[in-house]
Amino acid sequence: MIISEDIDIIRNHIKSWKTHGEKIGFIPTMGNLHKGHISLISSLKQAGATKIVTSIFVNPTQFGINEDYAKYPRTLDSDEKKLSEHNVDLLFSPSTDIMYPKNPLSRLIIEYPEYSNILCGENRPTHFSGVLWVVNKLFNIINPDIAIFGQKDYQQYILIKNMVKDLFMPITIACSPIIRESDGLALSSRNQYLSKQERLIAPKLYESLKEAKISIDRKLKISDIENNGISFLRRNNFLVEYFSIRRSNDLKKFDNNQPFSRSIIILAAVKIGRTRLIDNILLT
Ligand code: PAF
Repeated sequence: MIISEDIDIIRNHIKSWKTHGEKIGFIPTMGNLHKGHISLISSLKQAGATKIVTSIFVNPTQFGINEDYAKYPRTLDSDEKKLSEHNVDLLFSPSTDIMYPKNPLSRLIIEYPEYSNILCGENRPTHFSGVLWVVNKLFNIINPDIAIFGQKDYQQYILIKNMVKDLFMPITIACSPIIRESDGLALSSRNQYLSKQERLIAPKLYESLKEAKISIDRKLKISDIENNGISFLRRNNFLVEYFSIRRSNDLKKFDNNQPFSRSIIILAAVKIGRTRLIDNILLT
């Protein structure tokens, strides 16, 4: 596996691969890799990528002031080992100075108020502009044919998919299913912040989504399903940021009286103690 933080070196490798007809698949990450990240490698290969490129960069601009940027787990050595064991071809692991050479930062703001101010964006108002900023930089460096994102961050996936379309970037954006622990908790680097007690109740988040799915199948009213989900989570000591049933193509709300005719996603964000967890279920 080639490992570099030098943009020119990365570009030269990718240029030469492309000249030889390789299809570049890209997995942007913030590191601390788990099975969820690793599953993206095979998804990319199935989608036709012949060279797998990953990046590891804990992006400061997507964290709010009181969020976990400083304590976000950084495990570069073990991440490198995992990637090379899974035959990744290239790892770009830049420093903050390389990604953001201007100090102080002049903020480039790419916004989609219709997608970025809702759901997670309501509690994390600067988060998605930071994500879009860094993903743009990464796409300009890597120049992938296809890039893949985990379904757990579904709102991020929708934003990036729309950005790429609106900016006429010739990149296919794919989404890979959530990988879960045996008790249902979606894999996330932030799960390790949970205390033993919190870890025991964390799977209730997925339980609440599954309950909502059953209620949708039974054609219950959307607002009732959402309220039931919120009550269930509150009874289990979660602080609920949102529990929402949306159209999966554009994250718009359903009209309460409208029959469920389109693809649906049930999304929730909660806090247990100081840890924020998100999860969702897609119904197609
Ligand atoms: O999903 C993530 O890990 C991050 O938001 C991403 C896409 C790597 C951008 O920093």
